[in-house]
Amino acid sequence: MILVTGGAGYIGSHACAALASAGHEILIVDNLSNSRRSVIDELAVLSGVRPLFVEGDIRDSSLMNNLFRKYTVKAVFHFAGLKAVGESVQKPLEYYDNNIRGTLDLLDAMRRASVKTLIFSSSATVYGDPERVPIPESAPRSATNPYGRSKLVIEDILADLYGAEDDWRIARLRYFNPVGAHPSGRIGEAPQGIPNNLMPFIAQVATGQREFLNVYGNDYPTPDGTGVRDYIHVMDLVEGHVAALEYLRNAGGLLTVNLGTGQGYSVLEMIKAFEQASGRSVPYRIAARRPGDIAQCWADSSLARELLDWKATRKLAEMCTDTWRWQKSAAMFNQ
Ligand code: NAD
Ligand code: WQD
Repeated sequence: MILVTGGAGYIGSHACAALASAGHEILIVDNLSNSRRSVIDELAVLSGVRPLFVEGDIRDSSLMNNLFRKYTVKAVFHFAGLKAVGESVQKPLEYYDNNIRGTLDLLDAMRRASVKTLIFSSSATVYGDPERVPIPESAPRSATNPYGRSKLVIEDILADLYGAEDDWRIARLRYFNPVGAHPSGRIGEAPQGIPNNLMPFIAQVATGQREFLNVYGNDYPTPDGTGVRDYIHVMDLVEGHVAALEYLRNAGGLLTVNLGTGQGYSVLEMIKAFEQASGRSVPYRIAARRPGDIAQCWADSSLARELLDWKATRKLAEMCTDTWRWQKSAAMFNQ
């Protein structure tokens, strides 16, 4: 059985779908601070088997110890955490507590139970403002906000742990910009309130829920002046996790890889692609740069290809079509 922390969330729920397709049994622990219980019902429909679900917090040590005693867990996919960059600046202690202490508590419970295989959600945010693109895993790391610092610290904790106890098998997966949704339209990204990220915002403009998109800056040193990012379909991303699990099973060790496509798209290119996929127009206005944003960021994705025999295959049109299918059903649900 695979324990999935944060398995009701955006990426975690898609990972559960991919794990179920690969024949794994799943136990989800999620405190539902940023997700809905109904996701579990959708996962049951998608995979034909209802995943075990426990509503709870990974910082609740007695709960976690009990779970490891009760179930035979082979590996942990660790998605639980807070992820909003701006909020992390306002609430640093909450972010450090949830992300760093949460991970420490999880590791402690894992060690007590002798469960030593962990797949951790890191982020391209650990590259800070990159010196060059594409970004290899060896690039210097830095943090510009508490969210990013929490990922840096956890990466270091995991390296220290592996340095001290080399029977651990640990993957630190650095995600670029996950977008899209399961092709069924049953699960997807459901941000609370005003979306921070580009793709959910565009999708809400396309449905008419929001009037227009603010494009944060058109004076960056990029081909059209708007920010360039490596958008990766969430299904590709989670399949990369299943490949990482397989890798750890065979090779063990401490694995650090980028999960991206290796290709960047600008904000204006994203708007255009979404308009084509949805048949709707996405009005926008050029606004000031968003503080803390970088000009461009995309992955050197060659290491994942070499080590995991995995690469992202879904193109931008599919990312937009799948987001749109999900957004239409989410909009209906919210009416
Ligand atoms: P999400 O908010 O949709 O999912 C996180 C889930 O964890 C939520 O369901 C939330 O309720 C749960 N959770 C939070 N704190 C918890 C706790 N203490 N105990 C139990 N459950 C808890 O976010 P996501 O986009 O699915 O991100 C998953 C992971 O991937 C996060 O660690 C995030 O930092 C990382 N990541 C995300 C992105 C992205 O752009 N979405 C990029 C890079 C890395
Ligand atoms: C993408 C581009 C914006 C919204 C963030 C986190 C990062 C990672 C993924 C977790 C940028 C522009 C956006 C809008 C816009 N998360 N934009 N109007 O900033 O690359 O990364 O999410 O680890 O840590 O920082 O993603 O989707 O917010 O922005 O013009 O309303 O879209 O300026 O160029 P970002 P994003």
